[in-house]
Amino acid sequence: MENKEKKYNAVITGLGMFKPEKILDNHQLEQMVDTNDEWIVSRTGIKERRIYDQGPTSEMAIKAAEDLIATTNLDPKEIDLIIVPTVTPDMLFPSTAAIVQEAIGAVNAWGFDLNAACSSFLFALQTARSMIEVGQYKKIVIIGADKMSSITDYTDRNTCILFGDLAAAVLLEPTTDKSLGIQDSLLHIDGSGKDSLYMLGGGSLNPPTHETVDKKMHYIYQDGKTVFKFAVKGMADISVEIMEKNGLKSEDIAYLVPHQANKRIMDATAQRMKLEPEKVMLNIHKYGNTTSATIPSCLTEYYRAGKVKKGDKLILSAFGAGFTWGAIYLTWGMD
Ligand code: COA
Repeated sequence: MENKEKKYNAVITGLGMFKPEKILDNHQLEQMVDTNDEWIVSRTGIKERRIYDQGPTSEMAIKAAEDLIATTNLDPKEIDLIIVPTVTPDMLFPSTAAIVQEAIGAVNAWGFDLNAACSSFLFALQTARSMIEVGQYKKIVIIGADKMSSITDYTDRNTCILFGDLAAAVLLEPTTDKSLGIQDSLLHIDGSGKDSLYMLGGGSLNPPTHETVDKKMHYIYQDGKTVFKFAVKGMADISVEIMEKNGLKSEDIAYLVPHQANKRIMDATAQRMKLEPEKVMLNIHKYGNTTSATIPSCLTEYYRAGKVKKGDKLILSAFGAGFTWGAIYLTWGMD
C-alpha cells in the first residue's frame, strides 16, 4: 500500500561496482562438463561469467562500496544504514554488512544482510525506501554482492553454466521532489516454490557433516524447467501489473531493468510489456546470473555509459527462489 503522507521520495544518488578480473567463458566450461557454447548462448544468453578467487563476498562488496564512495565523495561517517542483499554471505554470522561497515569506516551506521534469493536487491530497495520516505534515515547504502562460485557445483552442467560472481552498490537518499525516485513497488513471496530451487546443506535443517558434503548438499540445486515456467509468468505479470497500476504505457518507459537469470525470461517479459529490445538493460552475456548484483550492476553500467538520463522511468523486476518476485517503478534522479 502506498503511503500518501510520506515526507520524501527515496532516490538513487550514487552507484558503485566491482567485477572480478578472472573470466570463465563457455569454451572453458566445455572442458569441464558436457556442454557447448551454442547451447549455453541459445538457451540462456550467457557467454562468460566472472569468478572471484581472491576472497569472500565481503571483499567484493567492500570494493563496490569503495567505488561508490570514490565516485560520490560520500563521507562514510554519514552512512546511516548498510544493507547487503546476498545468498552467499561470508559466514552465517556476523553479517557481511558488519564486515563491510568496519572496512569502509561507516562508524555511525547499522546494518544487516538480506536474503530473498534473486529478488534480494529489490526487497532491500523497498526496505530502505520505506525508512527514507518517513524521514528516518538520510543515507542508505545497499550492496548487492554474491560469490555464486562458492555454492556452484562445477560438475553439474544444469547449474554451473548459469552463475557468476559480482558486486554492485547504490546510495539511496531522500528528495522532496516527488517526481523523482521510487514511485511504487509490488513484491511477493510464495513458499510453495521452495522445492524447485534451493541449497539444502549448511543451515539448521542439514548442519554440515561429512555426509552433507558427500551428497553435494552445499551446492545450488535447481529444477530449471519449473523455475523457468514460473519465472517467465512471475516477472512478466508483475511488470505489466506495475505499469497498469501507474498508468504507464510502453512508450513512457525508458528501461526495463530485469534480474539477469536467463535472456529468454527477459525477452518474454519485455514482449509482454511491449518494449523494444533496446529498452531492456542487459549484461547477462558478460556475467551470467550474479543473484543480488544483477540489477545494481545493470544500473551502474548503463548510467556510466551515458544511457540513462534524469527523468527516465525505469521498471526493475526480479524472480528468485522461494519463490520471491516483484517489481519497482522509479524515476531516475541522477544528472
Ligand atoms: N549443456 C548442454 N545440454 C544441457 C545443459 C548444458 N549445460 N544443461 C542441460 N542440458 C540438456 C538437458 O539434459 C536436456 O537434455 P534431454 O532433453 O536429453 O533431457 C536438454 O538440455 C534440455 O534441458 P532443459 O532443462 O529442458 O533446458 P531449458 O531450455 O529448460 O534450459 C535452463 C535450462 C536452466 C537454462 C532454464 O531452464 C532456465 O533458465 N531456468 C530458470 C533459471 C532461472 O530463472 N532461475 C531463476 C532464479 S535465479
